Amino acid sequence: MTFTELILARQSVRRYANIAVEPEKLERCLESARLAPSASNSQPWKFIVVDQEPLRTEVAKATFSDIQLINKFTLQAPVMIVIVMEKAKLITRLAMLVKKKEWPLIDIGITAEHFCLQAAELGLGTCMIGWFDEDKIKKLLQIPSNNSIGLLISVGYAVDGYPQRTKIRKPNEEVISFNKY
Ligand SMILES: Cc1cc2nc3c(=O)[nH]c(=O)nc-3n(C[C@H](O)[C@H](O)[C@H](O)COP(=O)(O)O)c2cc1C
Repeated sequence: MTFTELILARQSVRRYANIAVEPEKLERCLESARLAPSASNSQPWKFIVVDQEPLRTEVAKATFSDIQLINKFTLQAPVMIVIVMEKAKLITRLAMLVKKKEWPLIDIGITAEHFCLQAAELGLGTCMIGWFDEDKIKKLLQIPSNNSIGLLISVGYAVDGYPQRTKIRKPNEEVISFNKY
């Protein structure tokens, strides 16, 4: 796959087959995530792989509720990745105060995309999950109270025949300009 083909192949997968993810493939995804760039190379992340029952089901359940069912599909995913936000380096935190920017959040987004692109290359499906009950997951995974969770990623094989969707994106003229806003 060329990089361009990979970008087109990666999509959010919301229906998973009942097939386990090979540990070697998971390791490669984690390694690609670990190699992601970050502000001042702070690497403000920790990846928790949740693949054991009943924990996996409990984490999946924390991504939806009776009134918000969008993420119910996570119950089918054999693996959930929880990306915990770690403290950035002191120099980064000082720079963040001066510049009023939240770089660790950006870093988490980049590492998550590294993970998902690597997964797509290996034929795995993923979906980033931003809607979840943070307190519940922190308790389940014994995450220290002063750490927050940046993002979750569901991982698994898409069901047979899962459609490759056409990308719905804003047109170029709406999101790209040259030399002025
Ligand atoms: C930060 C972030 C949070 C997201 N949260 C969710 C989520 O909670 N549930 C979900 O089904 N998809 C979630 N998504 C996936 C987006 O809906 C998806 O990336 C977008 O619609 C584009 O579709 P594509 O990934 O198939 O290209 C999230 C994506 C990002 C980047």
